[in-house]
Amino acid sequence: MANKNVIWCDEKTLQKDISGKIYVVTGANSGVGLETSKQLIKQGGHVIMACRRVDAGEEEAKAFGDLKGSYEVMKVDFADLQSVRNFAAKFKAKYDRLDGLMCNAGALFSGDQAQYTKDGIEMSIGVSYFGHFLLTELLLEQLKKSAPARVGILSSVGHAGNAKNRYKVHFEDINWKNRKYNGVDAYCEAKVAVNLYAMELGERLKGTGVSTASVHPGWARSNFGGSGVMMKVLRVFLYPFRNSITNSNEESAQTSLHVLLSEDAPQHSGAYFSQHSVLYRDKECRKGGWPMTSPNPHAKDMEAAHQLVKLSRQMVAL
Ligand SMILES: NC(=O)c1ccc[n+]([C@@H]2O[C@H](COP(=O)([O-])OP(=O)(O)OC[C@H]3O[C@@H](n4cnc5c(N)ncnc54)[C@H](OP(=O)(O)O)[C@@H]3O)[C@@H](O)[C@H]2O)c1
Repeated sequence: MANKNVIWCDEKTLQKDISGKIYVVTGANSGVGLETSKQLIKQGGHVIMACRRVDAGEEEAKAFGDLKGSYEVMKVDFADLQSVRNFAAKFKAKYDRLDGLMCNAGALFSGDQAQYTKDGIEMSIGVSYFGHFLLTELLLEQLKKSAPARVGILSSVGHAGNAKNRYKVHFEDINWKNRKYNGVDAYCEAKVAVNLYAMELGERLKGTGVSTASVHPGWARSNFGGSGVMMKVLRVFLYPFRNSITNSNEESAQTSLHVLLSEDAPQHSGAYFSQHSVLYRDKECRKGGWPMTSPNPHAKDMEAAHQLVKLSRQMVAL
């Protein structure tokens, strides 16, 4: 049974023939990224499924069957900036256009001990934001050349926080060296960075025909959160309510597909697009919106967005 609160793409968007168009979807072997890829291929697109585990991507893709479009699985690890550079170089050597980039890969690193990427960046923000920042910047010329083109980047309801605690990017301590680490807080801060980057890039690309968006996919029944005991218990507990509060991966891919394919999304370049979510602490946000105004002022602060991009250039050595 489908979740009745889901915002669906319109028929026109899901019927659009995108034959000849090239898309990159990161984290495409699982959950939201896998469903996003599948629908793009179904509509005739060629999708580069950017996965850190190529074998997992190939395995999942076997189930696509005889879809109209095509795919290629390519390796990238967002916890390693050299791997991102290698991916971009390989992509550019093979493809001379890019119609859509969906920066989808991300993970929550729970616990009270920070983990770090190969380049020494705290893992949540390293994977969800800095790795994707580098990838997007390295592929900008291809996107501009292929305009109209789109960039989406996966945020989360978590970025919003609540009225007493609005998450923000801690420029003075991005890597949690001087704060008590909390994996959930780190994840939510990383997603604030995502919203800010979509905004800044949207502003920077005005007039180029390349539009941007940040995306909350809803509460997806994906592999998010991993297979630890806590997640298993939570899944069992939630089972009776799954159709009223969580979404299938197909439902969760709708917002990404809207951003990549709809006629309307480019009119709101830089904005935040959200599926419905019972997890918003601000009740008025729970129905979601395409686009939607974030209740978090720190996620709408263009000055902070400029500061973030300046810092990001230094951190990824661009
Ligand atoms: N699920 C939700 O309810 C929810 C809610 C809000 C936002 N989101 C966001 O939605 C996005 C998709 O998540 P999902 O729900 O589809 O979760 P998922 O099923 O766990 O998929 C996450 C994908 O990201 C990939 N990934 C993780 N770390 C990576 C790395 N270092 N390099 C390359 N790829 C990496 C994973 O690869 P492996 O399979 O190799 O781990 C997997 O393909 C994430 O950005 C997540 O933060 C999800």
